[in-house]
Amino acid sequence: MTESPVAYESAGETGYISVDNPPVNSLSAAVRKGLVEAIDAFAADTTAKVAVLYCKGRTFIAGADISEFGKPMVEPYLPDVISRIENCAKPVIAVLHGTVLGGGLEVALGAHGRLAMPGTRVGLPEVTLGLMPGAGGSVRLPRLAGFAAAVDLITSGRQAGADEAVALGIIDGIPDAADPRAAGEAEARRWIAERRSPRQISGLPAPRPEEDEIKAARARVERSARGQIAPVRAFETLVAALGMPFTEAMAFERSAFLDLMQTPQRAALIHAFFAERKAVQQEGLKGIQPRAIAKVGIIGGGTMGQGIAAAVLNAGLDVTLIEQDEEAAARAAAGLAKMQQGAVKRGKLSPEACDQMLRDKFRTAVDYAALAEADLVIEAVFENMDVKQEVFRKLDAVCRPGAVLATNTSYLDVNAIAAVTSRPADVIGLHFFSPANIMRLLEIVVADKTAPEVTATAFALAKALGKTGVRSGVCDGFIGNRMMNTYRTAADHMVLDGASPYDIDRALVRFGFAMGPYQVGDLAGLDIGYAARQRKAASRDPRERVPVFADRLVEAGRLGRKTGRGYYIYDDETPQGRPDPELEALLTEVRAGQPGNAATFSDEEIVARYMAAMVNEGAKILEEGIAARPLDIDVVLLHGYGFPRWRGGPMHWADAEGLGAIAQNIARFAETDDFFWKVSPLLARLAAEGRTFETLNTGEGAS
Ligand code: COA
Ligand code: NAD
Repeated sequence: MTESPVAYESAGETGYISVDNPPVNSLSAAVRKGLVEAIDAFAADTTAKVAVLYCKGRTFIAGADISEFGKPMVEPYLPDVISRIENCAKPVIAVLHGTVLGGGLEVALGAHGRLAMPGTRVGLPEVTLGLMPGAGGSVRLPRLAGFAAAVDLITSGRQAGADEAVALGIIDGIPDAADPRAAGEAEARRWIAERRSPRQISGLPAPRPEEDEIKAARARVERSARGQIAPVRAFETLVAALGMPFTEAMAFERSAFLDLMQTPQRAALIHAFFAERKAVQQEGLKGIQPRAIAKVGIIGGGTMGQGIAAAVLNAGLDVTLIEQDEEAAARAAAGLAKMQQGAVKRGKLSPEACDQMLRDKFRTAVDYAALAEADLVIEAVFENMDVKQEVFRKLDAVCRPGAVLATNTSYLDVNAIAAVTSRPADVIGLHFFSPANIMRLLEIVVADKTAPEVTATAFALAKALGKTGVRSGVCDGFIGNRMMNTYRTAADHMVLDGASPYDIDRALVRFGFAMGPYQVGDLAGLDIGYAARQRKAASRDPRERVPVFADRLVEAGRLGRKTGRGYYIYDDETPQGRPDPELEALLTEVRAGQPGNAATFSDEEIVARYMAAMVNEGAKILEEGIAARPLDIDVVLLHGYGFPRWRGGPMHWADAEGLGAIAQNIARFAETDDFFWKVSPLLARLAAEGRTFETLNTGEGAS
């Protein structure tokens, strides 16, 4: 028999219930069972008067065991475990530390007193997994902290720090003690001296908010849910349960929780949670020691160079930034300072830390010799192969042996960049996303000769910067931009055939994207795509359809937001943009003489084409080995391209939609354009065999 992860220890008048279930003390079936046994042992312990419930390791219980979700539930169920704690005749005090989330907080709400060590964070993040609290969280929290706070925490899933939790009444205080056990010991002594009896939250009256308050809260929740069902269901359940007796409210909450458990959104969000964690786990790098990185060089102080410098400085590393001349260097330093002051304003950085890092850890230079000691250099100069190769020749000459040489190119061939150095094994792509100090994604582009140790260093760097690293092979645009080019092209074809860019944006925002492709185009600047099309014009296949309308906009000086006009008009009246009535005339002119024009596209057809293009390109990327697993692609689109998290990423979405249906759609689109629409053999094969992309994530049936 394996030992229980929960122990009961009798120590005179105080009993200690400790949970030890690494890594995060999640509420596995064994922990739930152990808690019941420990409460029984405490109840039977005739000398103990008060019990202290605490956890070993890095955190108090961080929630239900997510890996058990979607599988048959095993007894004892959590609500019953918590009710055993709450109904214990003698007081139980929970002492929290770390991240007390979901079921962890629900367990704590079953206790009769709660303390939290400094730095503790509490929350009910179930909605972020497509769920809602299912073990009393939405019934007990309003009774303890009031209606407004409960609605806020439960429908947003956000975490509150210890001080806020005290202010909200969720915890009783922040002890000054060495560790949770010592804090509990002192508190238990006080409870015993004061002869305090258990205070049950279930016995507190439920708040009775006014109709107006409920209405306003509902409007807020519906507005921010944007397609997600869990926050809305959590809200309605919480509100309805306020009018019920406690036991009935608990059963009502549980049934809503079990309903949500069956939804595709729950499956998608949990897929996203594990995909993010698996993306950074690289079987091939096990046991390989990353190189130490303390001093970082950055070449180019434009948009990306500044953002990367901020991200690297925020991780506590040292930065030397190289620009072409003193003037550009000063501009870069000023831009960086402004960016960091923005972080100070948002409360992400203290003013002292900001000043200190800019003074002691940051400098600019124009001479590459300043990089002689760098452990890592990240190049972020213009997107031009000749310029980049020249930079890498210089780096090869000045950098010390063992320095990692990285390029932030968006599209260019990392092998060709590595080839101009005498040390291609040290060269790698680090594709940051803009703004680089905020976006979580880092594509780690492994070239043919990159050493495993260098790849391991890149993953370690991503972690140090608080980013999610995803491995990609070398191809035009790597995983993300290559997919984006394909689905953007599918959208452009629809516009050439008669769809309005506004209809396309609207359909995709309705699908759940943060922005539609033409809104994104305006934001990034239409000149970028224009320049790429000019570069490729000479080698373009004559069958390729060109979005001439986009070229016309650029030629008319309409570059997007930065010029106040692109697909949309941006001005004081509509800073977020409004449709331009003149666009239709331009489109009509461009479409004249094109085959297939004047077609109409329903929202469903727009989504079907856009998503089929995305999934098909993803399948090709897998087939070529550019991405190792479908989950890597999902993480790239979720973190770099505004893909709706509650749809799990394109490859997860494709599985849910059915690969057969997608393959059939592609065959239908190919009837009118068999140049663009070529089904990926991998997609065709999986569809024919009735399999899913998920089977390639798990290795199940992988060939
Ligand atoms: N159930 C099962 N496994 C969990 C888990 C949970 N609730 N929470 C974390 N894990 C696992 C992770 O998958 C990871 O496993 P791995 O090392 O095999 O990849 C490991 O625990 C560590 O988690 P990680 O997220 O890498 O650590 P962290 O210190 O950055 O963050 C938490 C810790 C608890 C803040 C974070 O994991 C988290 O938010 N977990 C989800 C909590 C939650 O939503 N609970 C409510 C469930 S209803
Ligand atoms: P940018 O034009 O804003 O900045 C480039 C900077 O590099 C300029 O300040 C320029 O003075 C400097 N520079 C040029 N040659 C140099 C040299 N030899 N030595 C030192 N400095 C030099 O460009 P950006 O948007 O920051 O893009 C930089 C790189 O990052 C490109 O490869 C781009 O494709 C890539 N990238 C851009 C984005 C984005 O959204 N802007 C996203 C990911 C990757």
